[in-house]
Amino acid sequence: MAETVDLLIKNTAEIAAGTAPGGPLRGAALNDPGQIPRGGIAITDGRIVAVGPTAEIENHYRGRETIDASRRAVIPGFVDCHTHTVFGGDRVAEFELRIRGASYMEIMAAGGGIANTVAKTRALSVGDLVDDARPRLDTMLALGSTTIEIKSGYGLDTENELKMLEVIARLDRTHPVDLIPTFLGAHTIPPEFKEDPTGYVDLVVEEMIPAAAGWYSASHFNDAGTPFFIDVFCEDHAFSPAQAARILEAGRAAGMQVKIHVDQFNELGGLVKALELEAVSVDHLEVTGSQGVRQIAASEAVAVLLPAVNFNLGLAQFADGRGLIDGGAAVALATDLNPGSAPCYAMPLIMAIACRYLKLTPAEALNAATINAAHALARGQLVGSLEPGKQADLLILKGSDYRHVPYFLGGNPVAQVIKRGRLQ
Ligand code: NIG
Ligand code: FE
Repeated sequence: MAETVDLLIKNTAEIAAGTAPGGPLRGAALNDPGQIPRGGIAITDGRIVAVGPTAEIENHYRGRETIDASRRAVIPGFVDCHTHTVFGGDRVAEFELRIRGASYMEIMAAGGGIANTVAKTRALSVGDLVDDARPRLDTMLALGSTTIEIKSGYGLDTENELKMLEVIARLDRTHPVDLIPTFLGAHTIPPEFKEDPTGYVDLVVEEMIPAAAGWYSASHFNDAGTPFFIDVFCEDHAFSPAQAARILEAGRAAGMQVKIHVDQFNELGGLVKALELEAVSVDHLEVTGSQGVRQIAASEAVAVLLPAVNFNLGLAQFADGRGLIDGGAAVALATDLNPGSAPCYAMPLIMAIACRYLKLTPAEALNAATINAAHALARGQLVGSLEPGKQADLLILKGSDYRHVPYFLGGNPVAQVIKRGRLQ
């Protein structure tokens, strides 16, 4: 007797299911897409019950609803593990300035950049910020992102950082995408502390981190067991390695898991500090040298690469994705969606750039955008691959081959998104 399940997907051209050996994928394992030709999937209560050849799945399961996915490939939903999706206004004027020759760092040093968005974000209410961010999440979901990390970091005072965290919580409660919150109070020095950066670090450590930790404890994220991260932008005109270490240590002591923006324009030494603090991920790495690559490879941290940034900034140097993978690092990909360095919604475009300029294979790019990205959010046991017991977050592609995702440029390769077993 076949068991009845909520949803049965059958006759796919292939399922690129990925694999999850327990930790993030490295080396040759990263190049294995876990293909099942003509695969099928049985789903009940938002979870995957079984994955295998369609004939086998049909032998054991009958669907209350069935999708015939002939000539279509199925892959896991993307995990966008580094974004700044909540922000006020835009920075389209800076976009034009850069086209005319100004650099991202020149604009930031002159008081624009992140500080520009801080002013616009402070001026908006929770409701306004939710209304602005919701259509961004709609677009990202339609492009296949089913789990998305969102950072605070455009408030830069206690009240406005808590406001941003509240926006993330409200969006999570009301949008089908699963959100993971990160406290980024140390995104840059706000204008009112320009002459007293140490005073701002004191404020972050003594007031903002305890407030953010208190907010999390009382939030539905805590009830649901969703992790909470702390992040710092370690860079000139932002935070030095010593300041970053002090902030990350305080966050860790308050129960947050560690992330860092590091080696984006300058290799200052924040990487080693973050690795010492058992960072779950180290992000950016555009200028990380061979020693840094070895240090990451020898650690548990996931290397999160954000190729939309230098693509958008018109820079020719990308993170050394090939070198990181060949050196043994666990590599993940993310959009870094933000109004300045990367106004990019699309994980498929990220995979496309990663294949061409970071020299990832399509299989590596897929695993980096799914299971390894899930591990960068401490969510590798729940999402990121299509295996029994995992959340049923998956994409039915328009094409018959998972490699179509990075191969075609600029369109949406996703025909249907299934989130927690529900067709979106
Ligand atoms: O990841 N590098 C720092 N933070 C963001 C940019 C944020 C912004 O420009 O608003 C990033 O690139
Ligand atoms: Fe970022």
